[in-house]
Amino acid sequence: MRIGIFGVGYVGLVTGACFAEMGNTVTCYDIDRKKISRLRKGEIPIYEPGLEDLVRKNVAEDRLSFTTDVREVVENSFIIFIAVGTPSGRRGEANLEGIFDSAKKIAENMDSYKIVVTKSTVPVGTTERVEEILRENLKDPSIEFDVANNPEFLKEGAAVDDFMYPDRIIVGCKNSRVAEIMKELYAPFSRRGEKLIVMDVRSSEMTKYAANAMLATRISFMNEIARVCEAVGADVESVRKGIGSDPRIGNKFIYPGVGFGGSCFPKDLRALIQTAREAGVKTSLLDSVVRVNEEQRRLFFEKVLTYFGGNLKGRTLGVWGIAFKPKTDDIREAPAVDVMEWALKEGARVKAYDPVAVPNAKARFRGQKGVSFPRGPYEAVKGADALLIFTEWPVFREPDFEKMKKLMKNPAIFDGRNLYTPARVRSLGFDYFPIGRPIDGDGGKL
Ligand SMILES: NC(=O)c1ccc[n+]([C@@H]2O[C@H](COP(=O)([O-])OP(=O)(O)OC[C@H]3O[C@@H](n4cnc5c(N)ncnc54)[C@H](O)[C@@H]3O)[C@@H](O)[C@H]2O)c1
Repeated sequence: MRIGIFGVGYVGLVTGACFAEMGNTVTCYDIDRKKISRLRKGEIPIYEPGLEDLVRKNVAEDRLSFTTDVREVVENSFIIFIAVGTPSGRRGEANLEGIFDSAKKIAENMDSYKIVVTKSTVPVGTTERVEEILRENLKDPSIEFDVANNPEFLKEGAAVDDFMYPDRIIVGCKNSRVAEIMKELYAPFSRRGEKLIVMDVRSSEMTKYAANAMLATRISFMNEIARVCEAVGADVESVRKGIGSDPRIGNKFIYPGVGFGGSCFPKDLRALIQTAREAGVKTSLLDSVVRVNEEQRRLFFEKVLTYFGGNLKGRTLGVWGIAFKPKTDDIREAPAVDVMEWALKEGARVKAYDPVAVPNAKARFRGQKGVSFPRGPYEAVKGADALLIFTEWPVFREPDFEKMKKLMKNPAIFDGRNLYTPARVRSLGFDYFPIGRPIDGDGGKL
């Protein structure tokens, strides 16, 4: 099929590359000219495992192209996916300017029947609004079109695999013609069994928010349990294994830590709360999920502050992991970024390392004094008074503790991901502060 993509970010680029890989002809459009020109030169603007090869191969085989020409992308496409950003607005609502701008441009250039699909995460009612905008702006009112919603569930860091082997594909549409075409488009991704779930458009839009809210709730739940564990001398890692073995609970997404971040959970929760508010619905649970999450990174920072007697002036903090999770360079709403900012404000020096997120972090902290980005994890702890760990990259899991001890000015580790066995790290002479574990917690390994 001939596919058009509006917005070549994490979702748009992965979607485009994966559809091209399955034999479709894909044209990607973005308002960011720099991004398109880099892509045309074969440079991939984001880090995502497997994506670079996929993009290069499909460009070379003429199934994937990039343009800043709206007319080209619309004319070339039978199905157009809108995958532009939907960031938070001032009140927490989703900012839909990019979605509506795309819809208008599509309408102005549409010359034959097309299906326009919202793939971005959009509040209930947005796809209907897109339909209205298309109708209002068609250059020829006799041209027919359909709209659909097809929310994306890929995870950054595993986006290509998630897209290629999805757990489910949600399609919200109004008629069987669209459902059949979407079924055909997604058939190659569904070979191991039917993955496509067709529903009405409003339910489809809501499914995405409900999924993210549920996952975020599990994390905040576990972080609150961790706080109680820490206070009463229980080990949250043992508790996690204990409850995760219950199939009704399951062992995924119950890891305590520094709280969730990234470009989706925080903003999508805020948008869902705002949608509910506008509809007159109270969101006691969702409000708490957000609050617990905001507190969690603050509590982590306060632990560090307390350790240094409330004064970070003249202290050097090493940081491992800047992005909100491993295997991505996305630092949007990452806990590490907030904590680094607070530490700098308190007069600390910060030496931060991340295997792939440093270029984005450098841009984020440009011009700020006291922050540096050494080349490796050991350089980041050199001369440090403490190490703060924010993500569970494999390279952080089994470090050379002896080497670290020699390099650090003071051997203290604040582990926001519970990577190590407390008794072991402490026996090596470190002051070790994990999340939700007592001083002698062993994570069930005794
Ligand atoms: N990143 C994820 O893991 C993920 C997963 C599922 C869903 N989503 C959702 O998908 C959407 C896109 O997310 P992302 O992370 O890919 O965003 P992104 O910020 O990485 O990319 C968005 C792209 O859209 C472009 N853009 C903005 N306005 C435009 C316009 N008017 N016309 C054309 N292009 C425009 C930007 O230049 C940018 O390249 C969001 O709604 C997000 O919530 C993201």
